[in-house]
Amino acid sequence: MSKVNIQALVRENVNGLSPYSSARDEYVSDGSEMVFLDANENPFENGVNRYPDPQQRGLKEVLASQKGLNSSNILFGNGSDEVLDFIFRTFCEPKQDNIITLPPTYGMYKVLSGINNIENKEVLLTSDFEPDVEQILSAANSNSKLLFLCSPNNPTANSFSRNKIIELLEKFNGVVVIDEAYIDFSKEESWLSELSSYSNLIVTQTLSKAYGMAGIRLGVCYASEEIIAVLNKIKPPYNVNELTQKRALERVLNLDKVKSEVADILVERDLLSKALLQLKFVSKVYDTDANFVLAKLDNATERYKQLLKKGIVVRNRTTQPLCENTLRFTVGTKEENQRLIQVLKEIQ
Ligand SMILES: Cc1ncc(COP(=O)(O)O)c(C=O)c1O
Repeated sequence: MSKVNIQALVRENVNGLSPYSSARDEYVSDGSEMVFLDANENPFENGVNRYPDPQQRGLKEVLASQKGLNSSNILFGNGSDEVLDFIFRTFCEPKQDNIITLPPTYGMYKVLSGINNIENKEVLLTSDFEPDVEQILSAANSNSKLLFLCSPNNPTANSFSRNKIIELLEKFNGVVVIDEAYIDFSKEESWLSELSSYSNLIVTQTLSKAYGMAGIRLGVCYASEEIIAVLNKIKPPYNVNELTQKRALERVLNLDKVKSEVADILVERDLLSKALLQLKFVSKVYDTDANFVLAKLDNATERYKQLLKKGIVVRNRTTQPLCENTLRFTVGTKEENQRLIQVLKEIQ
């Protein structure tokens, strides 16, 4: 159990902000029909002529009940990349604070630290792709506001061990952000159930992966009511558009479909891992808890180029630390994976 003082971690100017408030936030509806002449919209109905609900109430209610949380524990962003940016801007004072990331990992943490002018302290994962708890804690100082744990991790595909995450939640004196973009493919449980135990925990998820909605851009931030209230001060009022809210709601109300697609992807993932291992130039296929497979090859860059020539785009991760000569393969449809394997066999 940890009790970090969140208010003390928030940037001073952010603590003093009030969220943007529109006229429609400022009255309580009694259900009667209203005439909206407050927001300078075009009055002619076309389905999107009105501003969207800035608090996305409908979508929040459904997700909250599915996840066993309250709407006040949720904030949405234009993809989880936007959510991550809100987290930076809430907690990190430019040129003063720092964050800790664990390469090889998702590249946006570093990009966002650059954009926000925040030092990024990098502590390599261990050779078995686990957080090096001792090194992380010794790298941290009183200006270390955020620690990013991507679990399952991109590109290594593994989930971090539960004990290591607990130790970090208990000993890191800043906010621990667990990026669960790939959690729906994992055999591990989400950390959402621990939100009430750790005041310094933020969990981010997305509709871009298992939910199959990368094109609508919807990222989700789950945290204590206190953290969500501060993040709401940073959020632009209409960051999640009407079409996104509608499509996301339809999708989260159709969880069976999401689950059945995930089940298909998991079957394909195992077939793909096994097929990759049969290839002469593949020396290792890493265990995966996500919807992609990382494999070590003889010459990743050469193989990457050969695949491109045959019309297949994969991700070359060879320049990432601990990932020399690796390619990352997203699990596609049965036909796409068969095509990949066929081409890989041809270039053997
Ligand atoms: C670990 C991780 N987090 C976040 C994202 C970004 O997700 P979104 O599409 O919600 O911005 C990605 C995208 O690849 C990712 O791999």
